[in-house]
Amino acid sequence: MQAPDSPLAPQQVPFPTVAVVGLGTMGAGVAVAVARSGRRVIGIEADATAAARALARIEESTAHAVARERITAEERTALLALISVGDRLDAAAAADLVIEEVPERLELKREVFAELDRICPAETVLATGTTSLSVTRIAAATARPERVLGLHFFNPVHAMKLVEVVRTVLTTAQVAEQAAEFARSLGKEPVAAGDRAGFVVNGLLFAYLNQAAAMYESRYATREDIDAAMRLGCGLPMGPLALLDLIGVDTARTVLEAMYEQSRDRLHAPAPILGQLVAAGLLGRKTGRGFYSYEAPGSSKVVAEPGAAAAARVAGRPVTAVGVCGSGTMATGIAEVFAKAGYRVTLVARSLEKAERAKAALARSLDRSVDKGRLTAEQRQSTLDLVTASGQLADLAEVDLALEAVAEDLAVKRELFGALDKICKPGAVLATTTSSLPVISCATATERPRDVVGMHFFNPAPAMKLVEVVSTVLTSPEVTSTVLEVCTKVRKHAVECGDRAGFIVNALLFPYLNDAVRMLEEHYATVDDIDTAMKLGCGYPMGPFELLDVVGLDVSLTIERVLHQEFREPGLAAAPLLEHLVAAGCLGRKTGRGFRDHARR
Ligand SMILES: NC(=O)c1ccc[n+]([C@@H]2O[C@H](COP(=O)([O-])OP(=O)(O)OC[C@H]3O[C@@H](n4cnc5c(N)ncnc54)[C@H](O)[C@@H]3O)[C@@H](O)[C@H]2O)c1
Repeated sequence: MQAPDSPLAPQQVPFPTVAVVGLGTMGAGVAVAVARSGRRVIGIEADATAAARALARIEESTAHAVARERITAEERTALLALISVGDRLDAAAAADLVIEEVPERLELKREVFAELDRICPAETVLATGTTSLSVTRIAAATARPERVLGLHFFNPVHAMKLVEVVRTVLTTAQVAEQAAEFARSLGKEPVAAGDRAGFVVNGLLFAYLNQAAAMYESRYATREDIDAAMRLGCGLPMGPLALLDLIGVDTARTVLEAMYEQSRDRLHAPAPILGQLVAAGLLGRKTGRGFYSYEAPGSSKVVAEPGAAAAARVAGRPVTAVGVCGSGTMATGIAEVFAKAGYRVTLVARSLEKAERAKAALARSLDRSVDKGRLTAEQRQSTLDLVTASGQLADLAEVDLALEAVAEDLAVKRELFGALDKICKPGAVLATTTSSLPVISCATATERPRDVVGMHFFNPAPAMKLVEVVSTVLTSPEVTSTVLEVCTKVRKHAVECGDRAGFIVNALLFPYLNDAVRMLEEHYATVDDIDTAMKLGCGYPMGPFELLDVVGLDVSLTIERVLHQEFREPGLAAAPLLEHLVAAGCLGRKTGRGFRDHARR
């Protein structure tokens, strides 16, 4: 660690002395991160009281870091010695880089930049920490717009590795590169972004959060189900409504307003519910209530609203024998799920041979569970013994639940439902695993549409915890209850939704993936930068292009077309680049090339 009176030599690292203006949530975090890199930090607050408060905040957060063993007590002493805090902007004159982190108001930021421009030598680089304001308009308050850029850190700064380096049309490439190098020297990962509301991460994130808010507002699904669906169906660290509460409903609305102003995309127009919550002072965790209610302001513990009682549900029908139609990945995986939970399963394919092959695949999957120590050899055998392979639908005459996972083709599914209707005993529940076709179109192929329901499993079925239970306008409540109860027995988390395109997960996921493709198509950011930004900025397990290549570009395009056809929202139209790649046969991993080149196996 450097002593305070011997800052790093200018040739060693970019910007040996850094001023941070505004030491609130972000500024205090940035000041500490910069000092940890051995640089001298000049902290500047609005007045003496705020400066004292800021210093106390920095001392407290670094003491916390020592307690958590993120840094040693010696490192803390050394880094505190590198930070000075005052209330005079003039002190910024000694800095090579100034990072502004004052509240998110354009006029305030422009005033600060005009002053900094007057105070700082011509070569000093000025950076704004804005989330949603125009960096270009802030830069225009100075006479050196080529040395002005955005440095967008994420909260909490010590934990989040991402920094968006925002270049306006006037920022020089050299300044942007120096800033990226600076971010790297803080142990951060810089991604390059242009000056547009939301940059990469928030641009993609907030559009999705907005759709989730609108979905909740339309009462398509409950807040708990929307959140669980996105966590369990996509592996996201948090559900969208819980995340809105964490970010602050007011902040989210401000960011969306800024995005809409630039894009005029209706999908960015803040969902009315956000305005209602803001008007009511229900801003999320910080006020103790937003989409959810919390134990106290600032608490993360969700509590039930007073007077909220769970609606009583009718009892489902008993289910002991299950039929699964199909021989592909989903059918095999679903048969495994049921057999593992102790159900008798008849696996029916178009021929006995195909059914036997599917059962063999199921056996191999059970073998892997044994190898991993998740199943004993006896459990494997008893599970396998519960599965009967068959080439005849007639063998489903006595099942209590018949589930189809055949080709995603409406004509094929309707024909199958027509046949099941004739074969299955009265009272049997007929379920489809379709991910993009209307469940009601399967139902109307039968004489018993009230007994037809959707059970949308995720791939791989044995591993993925989520099932979307889709009730049509005709599905009887008893049938919905039956599959909800069955889901619990097979240890899946069921969420309930209506019969419309995309259900919950795909309706929220694919517009986001499409937005990422559009961002790429517009040359706003690169494939790698967008993937890195979403993984590091949001904690997503995969970036959008990684995910598209895994899912398959053709499959993705089909889902996007279905969504657009259903909602006719212009913003949902599939990005032309996606159509072109599919037309060119670049379908993702399965063809060796999608958004990235994948080595052929
Ligand atoms: N909070 C987040 O999660 C987050 C994440 C990324 C970016 N940002 C952005 O970072 C910036 C700072 O946000 P924050 O959350 O830290 O705000 P904050 O309100 O916590 O802190 C702002 C600080 O600036 C000080 N200040 C006000 N006027 C000043 C002036 N003229 N000179 C010096 N200091 C002044 C205030 O006293 C306060 O301490 C905003 O542009 C915000 O959009 C916030």
